Amino acid sequence: MMRWLSEWWRGGTAAVEPASARDAARLAQLHGASFARGWGEGEFESMISEPNTLVHRLRLGRKTIGFAVSRMGADEAEILSIAIDADERGRGLSRDLLLTHLGHLAGKGVRTVFLEVEENNAPARRLYERAGFAVVGRRERYYRQASGEQLNALLMRRDLS
Ligand SMILES: CC(C)(COP(=O)(O)OP(=O)(O)OC[C@H]1O[C@@H](n2cnc3c(N)ncnc32)[C@H](O)[C@@H]1OP(=O)(O)O)[C@@H](O)C(=O)NCCC(=O)NCCS
Repeated sequence: MMRWLSEWWRGGTAAVEPASARDAARLAQLHGASFARGWGEGEFESMISEPNTLVHRLRLGRKTIGFAVSRMGADEAEILSIAIDADERGRGLSRDLLLTHLGHLAGKGVRTVFLEVEENNAPARRLYERAGFAVVGRRERYYRQASGEQLNALLMRRDLS
């Protein structure tokens, strides 16, 4: 398909950009729709303004449809959260978001990145594996569902160079 036509079909050009204070409400909305324990607008405002957290938004045309958040300490970082609007999942947009986010972490001197992922979260595990993360640990019954079900967490790591 011609590039302009495929972009129009997808809803515009996708761009990964640093989040600003004005994004806090939308990011809290996206987070709340993706995770059982949502983060409020105030939590996003703090993370966006603090120097040790890095927040990117994923924009498609004029809509913000995703985000990635990390916390940095010395030369390590932890990805705290990454999510895409449910309507926009499954189109490969998360890869660009994650790789750009990792590039910015590297630019800030981060050499090792960790994250935790629920063992049965296939799209997230696939995303991380394809982006070069490897499983380095497993925590039994780490996440508790509202139903009382307990799920295992995997700890993943990737070195940046
Ligand atoms: C995790 C998330 C950001 C991935 O975004 P996405 O748009 O669904 O990702 P993609 O379309 O790029 O798919 C990622 C990979 O998973 C695969 N995948 C998607 N759904 C899948 C499924 N149900 N089972 C197995 N693999 C799946 C895709 O094929 C793709 O692999 P590929 O690159 O080899 O083709 C998104 O699903 C999301 O927001 N989930 C809710 C929040 C969340 O769980 N975040 C992670 C917390 S650790």
